[in-house]
Amino acid sequence: MSVPGTSGAPGARLPVPPGAEGAALVHARLARLVPWARTVAPAWLDAAERARRDRLRRAADRDAFEARRCLLRAVLAARLGTDPAAVPIAPLPGPAGRHGKPGVPGVHFSLSSSGEHVLLATGPRELGADLETVPSLAAARQVAAVLHPEEQRALARVRRGRRARATTVVWVRKESLLKAMGTGLSRDPALDLVGAGPEPARPVPGWRTLDLEGLPRTVRAALTVRAD
Ligand SMILES: CC(C)(COP(=O)(O)OP(=O)(O)OC[C@H]1O[C@@H](n2cnc3c(N)ncnc32)[C@H](O)[C@@H]1OP(=O)(O)O)[C@@H](O)C(=O)NCCC(=O)NCCS
Repeated sequence: MSVPGTSGAPGARLPVPPGAEGAALVHARLARLVPWARTVAPAWLDAAERARRDRLRRAADRDAFEARRCLLRAVLAARLGTDPAAVPIAPLPGPAGRHGKPGVPGVHFSLSSSGEHVLLATGPRELGADLETVPSLAAARQVAAVLHPEEQRALARVRRGRRARATTVVWVRKESLLKAMGTGLSRDPALDLVGAGPEPARPVPGWRTLDLEGLPRTVRAALTVRAD
């Protein structure tokens, strides 16, 4: 399956949760993105992207970076009505750009990947998206240790068999918020209480975090959008 309206980019649209109207979500897998990207990357990637790809030491990391950027270019080009090679991806001006958040005039986007899975959110308002593979319980414990104290207490009360998944839900909520704000992890993940309850809390005025559905059980994802 390819993303409708793109130049054949492999991927599927995810349902957009209520509260994020106007946004579009794409989920793709590296197994299909990588061979496709290899055919379009020579014409699409700019010099900065080629240099960044070539600096990566592992071939798998080079392939994944190339695949993410080609998906991003295909989806943004469809949204902007331009050629994928002509999409001007650059660090955002202002504080967000100082932490590495990239942007493109005329559309907001956020890209995330974990293991085999890639998530791309685009929309008319600022946003942040995060997707993570549910890790082992031991790895989840390390993640939980950097969260807000109230989140840590809530996760400690979750049954062991569900705790890694519950921790991943909190983590993607948190990272989507920090990516929307543009700080990324330069802002302490212990500061903002997104919560472990059924609905994400709204710790930072002006931002709303939403859990995403329609993904395999092995991954969890969240989207944070500007709220009026
Ligand atoms: C942004 C960040 C949270 C991403 O974490 P991650 O889980 O490893 O990666 P994800 O797959 O979820 O997201 C990566 C994408 O986020 C985007 N991104 C990068 N920096 C970002 C930021 N500050 N805010 C929002 N999005 C950002 C990019 O599109 C990136 O994709 P790319 O590597 O293909 O360009 C992490 O890298 C971070 O905290 N960076 C900022 C730290 C900082 O201040 N660095 C200063 C360097 S200039």
